[in-house]
Amino acid sequence: MSGDHFSSREVEMHNFEPVEISTKEDLVDFWLCVMKNHEQWLSFDDDQREAAAKICASDSFFEIQLVANGRIQDKFHYFVIKNNGSIIATCKADIEDFRGQRVAYITALSVDEDSRGRGLAPKIIHACEKAAQEEGCEVASLDVDCDNPISLVTNLKEGYRLVKMNSSVLVKTSANKKESSFFVLEKLLTRQDDFDPKSGKIGELSEVNLADKETVNKHLKDGYVGIDIKNIGDPKDNSPENWILILEKK
Ligand SMILES: CC(C)(COP(=O)(O)OP(=O)(O)OC[C@H]1O[C@@H](n2cnc3c(N)ncnc32)[C@H](O)[C@@H]1OP(=O)(O)O)[C@@H](O)C(=O)NCCC(=O)NCCS
Repeated sequence: MSGDHFSSREVEMHNFEPVEISTKEDLVDFWLCVMKNHEQWLSFDDDQREAAAKICASDSFFEIQLVANGRIQDKFHYFVIKNNGSIIATCKADIEDFRGQRVAYITALSVDEDSRGRGLAPKIIHACEKAAQEEGCEVASLDVDCDNPISLVTNLKEGYRLVKMNSSVLVKTSANKKESSFFVLEKLLTRQDDFDPKSGKIGELSEVNLADKETVNKHLKDGYVGIDIKNIGDPKDNSPENWILILEKK
């Protein structure tokens, strides 16, 4: 892994712009990138990963074709960032109507290990949000594994707010099975003032160690939302014990 830390401005100079993809070939590479970087696929060997990526790509291609033929309302946007022709970052936006609201579900966010810490994730998330806004979405929503503080850093920094915890979801692949808890994060795409701690009046603040999931969950049920996260060790360390979640109740 590179020890260099590049600022967002340096990323722009390198011209790593997100592009939307729809070919089967690109979709296979999209899923290979996701699987290389997501914990639930780490135990796959190369052959298993390629086979799984091909299945996911066929499903994705089918989704895109369905939309092109106008047979379903839902829309799917697959974005990548490429470096010398290879995919180094991925993100997907699923646009759905949910309880009378258009919502963008942001999934499959991944950045290759040696390209992390350079602001690529924010860039590709923005591309998904822009596509969602053009589809009339009011809200973007995403799930983050409770044991993944680095992903929380990225998303809280981008204006997402931690609103809910879903306990013990069974994450299953053909190679392994794991009980995981997920945080649900949301961002208003239309109006940000309620969510922006800098523009509104500051409410009651509370700090909780991220490893103490019970207390975090209690706060969320009491009407707090997670607004920020700070590190008390190595900023690249993904152990929840080394991170403090800052919650606010307005
Ligand atoms: C989460 C993830 C997408 C972030 O991508 P990214 O492009 O590195 O995001 P950023 O550049 O904004 O960096 C985010 C934070 O990572 C940490 N970081 C910095 N350098 C890093 C490095 N070299 N390696 C790893 N993490 C680093 C920092 O805390 C940084 O925050 P900062 O910019 O405030 O210092 C990426 O780490 C990843 O793909 N992880 C594995 C898959 C995953 O967890 N996906 C998210 C599922 S919801």
